[in-house]
Amino acid sequence: MRIALMNQKGGVGKTSVAVNLAYSLAQQGADTLLLDLDPQAHASMIYCDDNPTSTINDIFERRDTELRALIQPAVVAGCTVDTLAIVPSNIRLAVIAERMITEHFRERRLHMQLQNVGDNFEYVVMDCPPNLGILTVNAIYTADVIVIPVTYGRYALDGTADLLESVSIIREGSGTQWAILRNAFDARNRATVAYVESELANVETNVLKTVIRRTEAINQAQIRRQPVYTYDPKSRAARDFASLTKEIQEYGC
Ligand SMILES: Nc1ncnc2c1ncn2[C@@H]1O[C@H](COP(=O)(O)OP(=O)(O)O)[C@@H](O)[C@H]1O
Ligand SMILES: [Mg+2]
Repeated sequence: MRIALMNQKGGVGKTSVAVNLAYSLAQQGADTLLLDLDPQAHASMIYCDDNPTSTINDIFERRDTELRALIQPAVVAGCTVDTLAIVPSNIRLAVIAERMITEHFRERRLHMQLQNVGDNFEYVVMDCPPNLGILTVNAIYTADVIVIPVTYGRYALDGTADLLESVSIIREGSGTQWAILRNAFDARNRATVAYVESELANVETNVLKTVIRRTEAINQAQIRRQPVYTYDPKSRAARDFASLTKEIQEYGC
């Protein structure tokens, strides 16, 4: 099952969800591959050294590179994480993506590469950049489920319609599943919560039941370059991500 975290807005939780969902799926024994498609490389910083020798950049830059050769074990605090692998990115991916504009099959590169490694992994989790550029388009092309994290605020759903329009154009109505994930929920902000919930009522069947609460452990874990599961396994963030994992697993059935 290929899951892409997507939203052209930054700061909504794409990376936090990708990093923790991938960890949680792997922890349950499922072979899981995390693909960092964001040149900002925030997911890579959790599971890799600062200067990884091989990056996902290669499949977009050179036709003769195999994704399979770029896969490396995820490492947290010096220890490899069982059944979790990653293909990291780095800042150069931004330039490479710009240069791809004129190439044939540019939007299908990742899809074609995943066909060769797909069977080795039960789950592929893709962390996307905060735009609808060619890297996000590659993820749209290959995803089974697109998860769109949104945070609570006046403009929570801004851009979602554009994103869904891109999905339907790229997948030509092939019925790609998509779901909105409510992130950074804080019950104290009652009016904002009520506003966003009323906006979401229009797409109710596409809203995941799990809500990720605003939790400082998520910030702290990111600062310490860890998933919340190792930083604070008892935190409510870890519980929320566990509930999300279960829901996603059921989604695939
Ligand atoms: N539920 C949450 N509670 C507290 N902080 C959060 C939560 N979700 C995300 N954050 C923080 O918000 C910032 C942006 O999150 P991130 O996952 O990097 O978003 P994106 O990848 O969409 O840009 C990070 O500092 C992250 O730690
Ligand atoms: Mg991110």
